[in-house]
Amino acid sequence: MEKLEKFLFSFLMASLALMLIQCKDKVAKTNDSKTSKDVETKAMVSIEKKAFGITEDGQSVEKYTLKNSKGMVVDIITYGGIIANWSAPDKEGKYQDIVLGYNTLDQYLKSTPYFGALIGRYGNRIAKGKFSLDGKKYQVTVNDGQNSLHGGDKGFDKVVWKAEELPNDNKASLKLTYTSVDGEEGYPGNLAVTVIYTLTDDNALEVDYNATTNMKTIVNLTQHSYFNLPGDFSKSILDEEIMINADRFLPVDATLIPTGELKPVEGTPFDFRTAKTIGKEINEENDQLKKGKGYDHCWILNDQDKDIHLAATAYDPGSGRFLEILTDQPGIQFYTGNFLDGTLPAKNGGTYGHRTGFCLETQHYPDSPNQSDFPSVVLNPGDTYKTKTIFKFSAK
Ligand code: GLA
Repeated sequence: MEKLEKFLFSFLMASLALMLIQCKDKVAKTNDSKTSKDVETKAMVSIEKKAFGITEDGQSVEKYTLKNSKGMVVDIITYGGIIANWSAPDKEGKYQDIVLGYNTLDQYLKSTPYFGALIGRYGNRIAKGKFSLDGKKYQVTVNDGQNSLHGGDKGFDKVVWKAEELPNDNKASLKLTYTSVDGEEGYPGNLAVTVIYTLTDDNALEVDYNATTNMKTIVNLTQHSYFNLPGDFSKSILDEEIMINADRFLPVDATLIPTGELKPVEGTPFDFRTAKTIGKEINEENDQLKKGKGYDHCWILNDQDKDIHLAATAYDPGSGRFLEILTDQPGIQFYTGNFLDGTLPAKNGGTYGHRTGFCLETQHYPDSPNQSDFPSVVLNPGDTYKTKTIFKFSAK
């Protein structure tokens, strides 16, 4: 009996020892594979630089290609900080370019409705291009009927930005800088602007905006990508589904300047609180849709007290591509490509037809400098304008 007990005890100890060794081995292996995978991932989030052309005034323009390990590719050109190509996965994992734009710099120089561009100093409209700060009146360039749109004749979408690749763990970051001098397009103060595009390995593109000034001024920056989630630029966007996290929107006058009313979306075609197709009500008899020639309005985002929050989503049921937009901005302009009319050349042949791209531009409200009830867009010397928007892609 004693012998049996001894034998059983030794057997148990031996088995325990063996189990411990195996366990240790396993942990070591897991750690090993983690380390090598990490290294691999880091190496695959990359930036590449190539010449893209020369502007009419002799400035060279570069194209930076940001790539992550999943397969997302974002091409950014230093002219206008334009996102020229952006590939996103469908439900089969197939990556395809989903933004409108051009193949050559010459096409951008010739004519573009702000395809993929950075917009400033003031994204959206300022009534008659007039505003005043501390009693001093300013007149900025009028370039949209009687109003100023997207910074004037030569806004931030038409200047060459200085680019710098930033070392960033497991992310690819491109820093763009531009200083807009006092009086440019009529705006006061030297405005030093930085925009950082960061591609993460979970298919998000983060856009960080920063600006400082040496004189009291106004600023409202945004990104003007036109999305077509099927990646078929000959197809209208009307079947794509949009959600906008907003209970109210800003009705506009005939020149697309907000009337000042904050109108509940409830019971109107402007209610996107539950996702619905863009086409569902776009052609309804509605005075606001008539004025915008479709949707071309600013929505007042909910959850403004939160730092960065979900503002909108877009979904293409065909490909399964799903886009989430998060921001700390108070508003979002939803524009359904109503002015696209089949005259501009598409990247893959053909032309961009009516409503073949939509924009979701995170921003402050249009004409804020003239509407005292709207959140302020004033930037003072010593203060920093700082805002962030994230575009995150997945598929379902
Ligand atoms: C913005 C405006 C639109 C239009 C486009 C560019 O989104 O709100 O009215 O001007 O830019 O065509």
